Amino acid sequence: RKKLLISTGGGDAPGLNAVIFAVVTSATRKGWEVYGSRAGYGGLLDRDDLVRLIPEDVEGILSQGGTILGSTNKGNPFCKPVENLAGEIQIVDISDKILDNFNRMGFFCHIAVGGDGSLDIAHRFAQKGMPVIGVPKTIDNDLEATDRTFGFDTAVSTATDALDKLHSTAKSHDRVMVVEVMGRDSGWIALYSGISGGADIILIPEIPFKIESIYAKISDNELHNKHYSIVVVAEGARAEDGEVISKGQGEMGRSEVILGGVGEWVADQIRQRLKKDTRSLVLGHLQRGGSPTTFDRLLALRFGTAAVRLAEQGVFDHMVALASSTMTAVPIAEAIRHRKKVDLESDKVRTARDIGICLGD
Ligand code: F6P
Repeated sequence: RKKLLISTGGGDAPGLNAVIFAVVTSATRKGWEVYGSRAGYGGLLDRDDLVRLIPEDVEGILSQGGTILGSTNKGNPFCKPVENLAGEIQIVDISDKILDNFNRMGFFCHIAVGGDGSLDIAHRFAQKGMPVIGVPKTIDNDLEATDRTFGFDTAVSTATDALDKLHSTAKSHDRVMVVEVMGRDSGWIALYSGISGGADIILIPEIPFKIESIYAKISDNELHNKHYSIVVVAEGARAEDGEVISKGQGEMGRSEVILGGVGEWVADQIRQRLKKDTRSLVLGHLQRGGSPTTFDRLLALRFGTAAVRLAEQGVFDHMVALASSTMTAVPIAEAIRHRKKVDLESDKVRTARDIGICLGD
């Protein structure tokens, strides 16, 4: 019987379990055996991290957030930090060992679900001869090759829900509420949730902001008898003069706060300059948790089954993608080359401007 391997790498996103459900269910129906690799490539290094998955194992997981396989960053197998006998950290390439184990265990395909980092690793394995199929995963929705990624819709709805709740408390106290949402390189979550959640100001990485524009919008609200304001800030937004360094790439591509969050910085400036009672909050990983929305479940199921169909057709080193409502396949190398930024001429940006939202420019 054909043996298929599935792994989930990088940060989690609502919908990962739905992909696993789809792969296990549809591959089993084709008569294949499915194995899950825990901890990314862990299952190809340690038998304990390799789990046989049958439909009974995935029953009920479709609606659950997170991933039953663990979404991990145990390092890049091509340059993995390992402690030697002298206690020193050495960087070693363990990819040959992983490929060897993959072949010895008799897998015919590896479905790698991950963000651009994990997909880059998957592509490097494909170049070494591993038959790999990629499934895109990021709540940030910033992959050019696909119209949507699962997890994004759930993150937007969590953020919108938070904004709805903040309106009443901001209004009761005549306060400015600054909400920092995820989005390191692109402002999709901030834009979609900010428009839907009735924000007054939305700051995204694609538009370096002028702090003076923010003051002007809040002051204008006051003039029009609106004594509270809601500001949505993407974590990767920055001031035009480059004063704020918000988040950066830390070790192994993880985000880390360098100079405090940009939301907190914006709130401080507003407080000092306008003497307005201001509060800031970071929604953080709340946006990655919880049950996926219907849209994300469906997209994840479509991605999972499309990946299994590609495996059947023998189309490897490709990533499944959504293009104009249909499933397609794009070479992984091409898919990870371009980040999808918010198009400043798009109708969403126009909508925001037309309803009076300040975008910081
Ligand atoms: O890329 C997805 C993302 O959720 C970003 O929006 C965020 O900056 C990052 O992951 C957080 O990752 P970590 O789990 O390492 O804190």
